[in-house]
Amino acid sequence: MSDISTPSISLKGKTALVTGGASGIGLAVARRFRELGAQVCVADLAEQPPEGFEPDYVRGDVCSEADVSRMVEQTAKGTGLDIAVCCAGIADELVPTLEQDIVTWQRVLDVSLRGTYLVCRESGRRMLAQGRGSIVTIASITALVGFPRRNAYGASKAGVAHMTRSLACEWGGSGVRVNCIAPGYTATPMVEQVLERGRLDEKRITTRTPLARFGKPVEVANAAVFLASDWASFITGVVLPVDGGWTAFGGSGDIATA
Ligand SMILES: NC(=O)c1ccc[n+]([C@@H]2O[C@H](COP(=O)([O-])OP(=O)(O)OC[C@H]3O[C@@H](n4cnc5c(N)ncnc54)[C@H](O)[C@@H]3O)[C@@H](O)[C@H]2O)c1
Repeated sequence: MSDISTPSISLKGKTALVTGGASGIGLAVARRFRELGAQVCVADLAEQPPEGFEPDYVRGDVCSEADVSRMVEQTAKGTGLDIAVCCAGIADELVPTLEQDIVTWQRVLDVSLRGTYLVCRESGRRMLAQGRGSIVTIASITALVGFPRRNAYGASKAGVAHMTRSLACEWGGSGVRVNCIAPGYTATPMVEQVLERGRLDEKRITTRTPLARFGKPVEVANAAVFLASDWASFITGVVLPVDGGWTAFGGSGDIATA
């Protein structure tokens, strides 16, 4: 038997805030972080906390400065704040531009871009004062390439990706890392609802995805673990696609026939 032990990622001793943590990717992140030893606080608009997070839940809107301040305060109380993951987000309507309404457009921008900005800013206040911290934002493959009919969503996610780089440059010298994940199609309630409304074609998506399937929320969560953890101690300002190869493919039609 080898006496070389295999080190594994641990979040023991870390305190983490996960926004949008009542569902989908955020819930998978919260569960994974907890499994790896972190003290996790979930923040979400949902009335009910997810199972198991009842004492560690803040109900609030990431668009509200007061609510976000409360989320950070409640997470950091007594311990400080090591990690923040910004998962709160809403889908857009995927209708032609000429049929889009400005109220929906603005709400998507507000939740995604303003919300991420506020969570980063309020977390940053704590982390810069501590001289340590790691923030993971969630963009999308729509931040990286153009998607017809997805103006608000794509623009908000491109904003999140770019803001991540700017924050990484501003805060790196203070010991705070900021990275971004750009998920591809991931099987969450958000995507299921869009599929149910007939706005996405599952088969066409999977046949142009090199790994030929949708991602699972836990697969995005695993990337968040890595970026948030000390294993990524020299990584900041990256936008990491977790997309089954979707953005790697530039051919036409299906992967199989391209
Ligand atoms: N599922 C995908 O395919 C996919 C792909 C790329 C990016 N994303 C992004 O991943 C993130 C998570 O999405 P998901 O698919 O898990 O969706 P989801 O709908 O399952 O979860 C989103 C959560 O965010 C919460 N939320 C929405 N608005 C909020 C607000 N104003 N304040 C606080 N919480 C709020 C919701 O209540 C929900 O619990 C989003 O930012 C989404 O844009 C998802």
